[in-house]
Amino acid sequence: MKSYEFVLRRLATILSVAIISLSVMAAVTGILLSFYYEPVAGRAYQSLNWIDTEIPNGLLIHSIHDIAGNALIVTALIQIVVMFLGRQFRSSWLTAWISGILLTLTGIGLSWTAIILDWSQVGYWRFRIELSTIEAIPFIGGTLRNILTGGGAVNTTTVAHLYTIHSYLLSVGAIALAIVHLWSLLQQEKEMKGAVAETSLMTSEVKTEETTFSQI
Ligand code: HEM
Repeated sequence: MKSYEFVLRRLATILSVAIISLSVMAAVTGILLSFYYEPVAGRAYQSLNWIDTEIPNGLLIHSIHDIAGNALIVTALIQIVVMFLGRQFRSSWLTAWISGILLTLTGIGLSWTAIILDWSQVGYWRFRIELSTIEAIPFIGGTLRNILTGGGAVNTTTVAHLYTIHSYLLSVGAIALAIVHLWSLLQQEKEMKGAVAETSLMTSEVKTEETTFSQI
C-alpha cells in the first residue's frame, strides 16, 4: 500500500472519531439545554438568554452545543473529501460512504431545524423565507410545510415540531450514524491490514522459492 493511501485511510478514521465525539458533545449539551429551554414562541428567546446569563455554566454549555453542532457538519464534509481522495469507493466501503453522506445530511438537518428554535428576528424571517422555498416543491411542498409548521402558520406548534425533530429524531439518528460510520471504517482498517499481510506473506514465499531454486 502506498504511504499516502495509509495516511488518508488513517485520517478518515481519526476524523470519524472526532465526528462521534462531536455528536456526543452536542447531544449531552443539548439535553442539558433542554432542562431550561422552553420550546414556545416568544419564550424560547428569553429562555436561551436566561440560560446564558443566569444558569451557572449556561453560556459555556450553550456555546459548546452551537460549536459542536456546526463543527460536526464541517468535519463530516472534510471526511467525505478525505475518503474521496483516498479513492476508497470500492464496494466494501459502501457502508462508510452511505453512513458518512447520511450523517452529513443529518448534521445539516439539525442545523436547519435549529433556525427557529431561538425565536430570534433573524431566525424567524430566515425560516419563513426557506419555508416558501419548501412550499414551492411540486406536489409535496404544501404537505411538507404543514408537517413542519403544524398547520401552516409559524407559531408555538412550529417551534415544538422542529424541537421534536431536532432533539429526538435527528440527534438520535446522528449518533447512530456516527457509530455505524466509525465501525465501518475500523472494519476497513482490519480488512486492509489483512490484505497487506497476505501480500507480504506471498512475496516472502516467492523470495524463499527463488533462493531455493538458485541454490539448486
Ligand atoms: C447529535 C446531536 C445534536 C446536534 C449535532 C445538534 C446541533 C445543533 C446545531 C447545529 C444547532 C444550531 C446552533 C447555531 O445556533 O448555530 C443547535 C441548536 C439547538 N439545539 Fe441541538 N443538536 C443536537 C442535539 C440536541 C438535543 C438532544 C437537544 C435537546 C434535547 C438540542 C437542543 C437544541 C436547542 C434548544 C438549540 C437552540 C439553541 C440556539 O439556537 O442557540 N439539540 N443544535
